[in-house]
Amino acid sequence: MVTSTTCNEGEYGFRHCVVASTWAFEAQGPGSIPGGGAIRLHTVSSDLHIIVLAAGEGTRMKSATPKVLHSICGRTLLGHVISAVTELNPKDLAVVVGAGRESVEAHLAEIAPRARTIFQERRGGTGHATQLALADAAPNGTVLILAGDTPMLTSNSLSQLLEVHRAGKFGASVLTAEHPDPTGYGRIIRGDDGELLRIVEERDADDDQKMIFEINSGVYVFDGKLLAGAIGKLSDSNSQGELYLTDVIEIMRNEGASIAAAMIDDFIEILGVNDRVQLAESAALLRDRINDNLMKSGVTITDPTTTWVDATASVANDVILLPGSAIAGTTKIESGAIIGPRTTLIDCTVAAGATVIESYCTGSAIGSGASVGPFTFLRAGTDLGPHTRAGAFVEMKNSSVGEGSKVPHLSYVGDATIGVGTNIGAATIFVNYDGVDKHRTTVGDHVRIGSDSMLVAPISVGDGAYTAAGSVITEDVPAGAMGVGRSRQRNVLGWVLRKRAGTKSADAAAKSEKKG
Ligand code: UD1
Ligand code: CA
Repeated sequence: MVTSTTCNEGEYGFRHCVVASTWAFEAQGPGSIPGGGAIRLHTVSSDLHIIVLAAGEGTRMKSATPKVLHSICGRTLLGHVISAVTELNPKDLAVVVGAGRESVEAHLAEIAPRARTIFQERRGGTGHATQLALADAAPNGTVLILAGDTPMLTSNSLSQLLEVHRAGKFGASVLTAEHPDPTGYGRIIRGDDGELLRIVEERDADDDQKMIFEINSGVYVFDGKLLAGAIGKLSDSNSQGELYLTDVIEIMRNEGASIAAAMIDDFIEILGVNDRVQLAESAALLRDRINDNLMKSGVTITDPTTTWVDATASVANDVILLPGSAIAGTTKIESGAIIGPRTTLIDCTVAAGATVIESYCTGSAIGSGASVGPFTFLRAGTDLGPHTRAGAFVEMKNSSVGEGSKVPHLSYVGDATIGVGTNIGAATIFVNYDGVDKHRTTVGDHVRIGSDSMLVAPISVGDGAYTAAGSVITEDVPAGAMGVGRSRQRNVLGWVLRKRAGTKSADAAAKSEKKG
């Protein structure tokens, strides 16, 4: 039971004002637990149940897409929350869905197949959503409840909140923050001793309460049994006529439970997204966080404000990211690569030391030391070997290029296999489409394809073969042969003097003739 009040500046970003005789978190942050290293939640999470509230309409987004399915930095809002809570290795993960149920459930099936969904048909408030989540199975252990629209939350902070809760044996622990503009958030009402009395919603707050800057994050940890006992006692006598989960705090307190309010230093973590302005703000903050982490890990980012790296991508140390670049999806970039400026990589791998300049690449593998761009379009299934080149105005798809081979200029390479040490002359087209079907082209090792060749698939050009510039190659070229697929040139002498007399061309030709 409550016996004393402590307000501490925690060394991990929390300030705790709790009222409890058992309070002892100060010395127990992650990394400083007596007898052991960082807190690994999976060691203590066997009784952890997580409920994500994601049934809301998201009216202010003015969107056909459910709010929690809007994306920032490569994940949906819900995806960011799911990613953070999955790291806590919970025993059970339940998501309350409502608005856009089908698409939210389909998305969850992809990103969190083990999550249980609970359908809230009528939006009766956060308390009502929690009642539904507890209805099937009232959990015995610890229950973490949070909203699906807070993409900035980190698993680290959630772990620390759980640790506060467990270390202090609290009935409920609320994550709070001081927000410079608390408008719209629930306010934290503390007693004279600093203890958390209750949470008052903005709409129900009086003028004095509206002056409080400490806000409710909407992230709570509960003792499952105490929560189950209190959740049925919520009333809808408030301005919205809803059941507020926040009211459960006062109910539990009145029943003698000890309550903690753990304040996080960085209010950015608890920002919710309710409209497109907040979506863009959160995206920029998340971009900055990702870039900061990358720079600290040894990545050079020339202009972090225009460099967007998805949360799902990975970039090794000593990579250089130049301005205006987007590193998206599952892209993985190895050490020493130089990307940009103005380059987009979606679901690509870039091996050590490769450079990709001013290019757009998706679903492609770029080998070590390879050089791509400027102005190159690599589409799905492109596999560039080590030290290859895909130069200016080259488009490739579904093609592999062997070590050291080059496609330097102005070419289309579709459905091709190119060997090692081969050069594809400027403006070569791999003619892969007959209007109905696609066909493959095979080009051997150390081949020289002359400029402006058309390689009409299906076709193969053998090892060491050449093709003459300007050829339309419609038959296989054997190894070592020169394929010529064009008519011979003939010059019609004197044609200009006869047919274009009086023009500057004719004058020039006449002068040239005189000179002999
Ligand atoms: C809520 C809190 C507020 C806190 C803020 C933090 C309540 C009453 N208020 O306000 O104190 O400062 O979050 O961001 O809890 N939801 C459902 N079913 C419902 C209603 C909501 O699943 O019937 C979900 C929403 O999808 C959302 C979350 O619960 O993910 C929070 O609901 P929202 O309406 O955004 O609450 P806030 O007004 O932001
Ligand atoms: Ca909200």
